[in-house]
Amino acid sequence: MSFDVSRIRADFPALQDGVAYFDGPGGTQVPRQVAEAIAAAMCSGVSNRGTTTAAERRADRIVTGARQALADLLGCDPRGVVLTRSATQAAYDVARALARGWAAGDEVVVTRLDHDSNVRPWIQAAESAGAVVRWAGFDRESGELGVDAVREQLSDRTRLVAVTGASNILGTRPDLPAIADAVHAVGALLYVDGVHLAAHTPVDVTALGADFFSCSPYKFLGPHHGVVVADPGRWEGLHPDKLLASSDQVPERFELGTLPYEFLAGTEAAVDYLAGLASTAPDRRTRLLESLRAVEQHEEALFGKLLAGLAGIPGVRLYGAPARRTPTAYFSVAGVPGADVYQRLAERKVNAPASHFYALEASRWLGLGDTGAIRAGLAPYSNDEDVERLLAGVAEVAG
Ligand SMILES: Cc1ncc(COP(=O)(O)O)c(C=O)c1O
Repeated sequence: MSFDVSRIRADFPALQDGVAYFDGPGGTQVPRQVAEAIAAAMCSGVSNRGTTTAAERRADRIVTGARQALADLLGCDPRGVVLTRSATQAAYDVARALARGWAAGDEVVVTRLDHDSNVRPWIQAAESAGAVVRWAGFDRESGELGVDAVREQLSDRTRLVAVTGASNILGTRPDLPAIADAVHAVGALLYVDGVHLAAHTPVDVTALGADFFSCSPYKFLGPHHGVVVADPGRWEGLHPDKLLASSDQVPERFELGTLPYEFLAGTEAAVDYLAGLASTAPDRRTRLLESLRAVEQHEEALFGKLLAGLAGIPGVRLYGAPARRTPTAYFSVAGVPGADVYQRLAERKVNAPASHFYALEASRWLGLGDTGAIRAGLAPYSNDEDVERLLAGVAEVAG
């Protein structure tokens, strides 16, 4: 079964509005199948999880179904899948729980490349424990975060390293297995922000060497909530603040309050949808790997065209050129503020916003301050016509 972008686009009711959406890195559009799964959950009898009534069992099936789907997506144990409000909340919760075991003088490493949600929670947790924060910078020209840049910050006092799986502005994909080896060699843990990565490529958290890996289904065709996964044994050793009445089992120990059952039904549907994009293999993990490889190829081909087109427009400056990257372009147009470019593209029904997109340190590191630049990111539903419309719009604004 091949990847057919026209067939895929027909599944997205939002695309009927004729907008070319390049803001997938901020949140993708959603296929009808996901919306229907959410509606079905809300139109069925659903109570709190339990075993007595059909409504309780339905809620339970939704939660276990979402955990299994996410485990298939990320190649991990469903008992290690913690469901959260957002990836940001996940980082804060894990940071607070881990910081209980840190002492004054311990060290935490963050990077200039990361989204602020994988920076600030660690800085604030380090402050609360009296730990020292060390920064790994990235190369401003290439946008690469080298293994050595992280290694230089490690010591026998390092407790945790927080690194992105892919930059949400430059697309940079650091060499995570090599970074994990360096981090583990000093006895520290690696927290990977996989929010931007998981939307574009097959993931195997064990092969990546991540001790924790977070992502957000709304970046890969699903609803708005977050996820963080780790080995169940790792979760067993952590004790977050929780209510006395709530479960102390793993992973429930980390899930505060009642879970968003309808969204979780949507997340399972989103994973099933991704799995079916280009594969009919009998098991879902294989379907996911095959389909996400097809997504990667589709996006890479389009991205080549997008980058070459942008590079050929006089006045356009592209930021970063990492060797391994997601299909995410970050650029400015000489003499035209990013907000104006965004506005003028939007008038042509091309959505490509301008911002630092919360990669605040990266934007400052690149000399773009707190304003940032324009981001054009691809999604599985992006097509040639979208790219041509973006290029024509940028050429007009630049000219
Ligand atoms: C790389 C990256 N990390 C983290 C986040 C934050 O995710 P959430 O909204 O689920 O907290 C985003 C959102 O844009 C992101 O792009």
